[in-house]
Amino acid sequence: MKHLGKQSTNAGFFMTVTDQDYQLFVYALKNSSKYDFSQYSEKSLKRRILKILTDHQLTITALISKIKSDPDFVEKIVKEITVNTSELFRDPQVWQTLRFVILPRFKNNSIINIWHAGCSTGQEVYSMLILLNELNLLEKTKIYATDINSDVMDYARQGEYRYRFNLSYLDNFDKVIKENPYNYDEYNDVPYDKYFTLDKGTDTIRMKPFLREKPVFKKHDLVTENNTLYVKFDLILCRNVIIYFNYDLQCRVFDLFHQNLYDSGCLMLGLHETILGAHAAKFQKKGHAYLKN
Ligand SMILES: C[S@@+](CC[C@H](N)C(=O)[O-])C[C@H]1O[C@@H](n2cnc3c(N)ncnc32)[C@H](O)[C@@H]1O
Repeated sequence: MKHLGKQSTNAGFFMTVTDQDYQLFVYALKNSSKYDFSQYSEKSLKRRILKILTDHQLTITALISKIKSDPDFVEKIVKEITVNTSELFRDPQVWQTLRFVILPRFKNNSIINIWHAGCSTGQEVYSMLILLNELNLLEKTKIYATDINSDVMDYARQGEYRYRFNLSYLDNFDKVIKENPYNYDEYNDVPYDKYFTLDKGTDTIRMKPFLREKPVFKKHDLVTENNTLYVKFDLILCRNVIIYFNYDLQCRVFDLFHQNLYDSGCLMLGLHETILGAHAAKFQKKGHAYLKN
């Protein structure tokens, strides 16, 4: 039985991660691997460390020792630190902004470059591919999708999701693709099987090959790497990622995005994420979108 509420260094008794435990963890990772979590939000990182200690039944001393001596274990826990929740057309109102306001800005481009930074299991990428196809922009668009966690990108490449658990995907699809919030009389009866197969028997939603084959997925760390895709972008989506970063790291990432957007480019953040401080002046906020100044 776990002793909830107690703090101890014995495996199975952890209920809090102290400031010292946190520092030891962050600096062990930083010194013995390529990963640097020192600028992640302390509160959420402490919760993830606690989960790792509990799941692996380790003391903080044993955890630090494994980090220093076992590179495969480091890769494993980095994947356990990241939060990978995603959804098809997550926050439909943001996708409506993309459909009616942002993507039409690029319709006369010969090529459109889009970067999904922190793409997780790919639902955001497939939402974009579907929307681009509806707007007849898919063919001339290059989609790049990156994440620090290579496992979630393997999942993304497969484009297969649970059906019953994700019924909200269909509601979101209807709101973004079929309905028009600016004209309730308009209704595009786009069938789901234009884009994915629904199999209740095997409980799966499977994206069609023409969507799965389109994106370039690449491992990329927003903390330590610059633009390793070597192109500039019309649109960057980095949604529900910077929420886990502290202010200084958020500023670094905003600089990275600002430098790698074309002058007419746009950055989309999560619904509860904003650009604060000096970087706010570098963008013009338009609804859920940040247009480069
Ligand atoms: C909550 S998911 C967001 C997925 C998707 N953007 C969405 O909004 O539905 C956050 C993703 O950010 C990724 N991530 C966290 N730290 C990162 C970093 N330093 N570099 C790149 N990706 C990172 C995680 O692995 C995770 O897949």
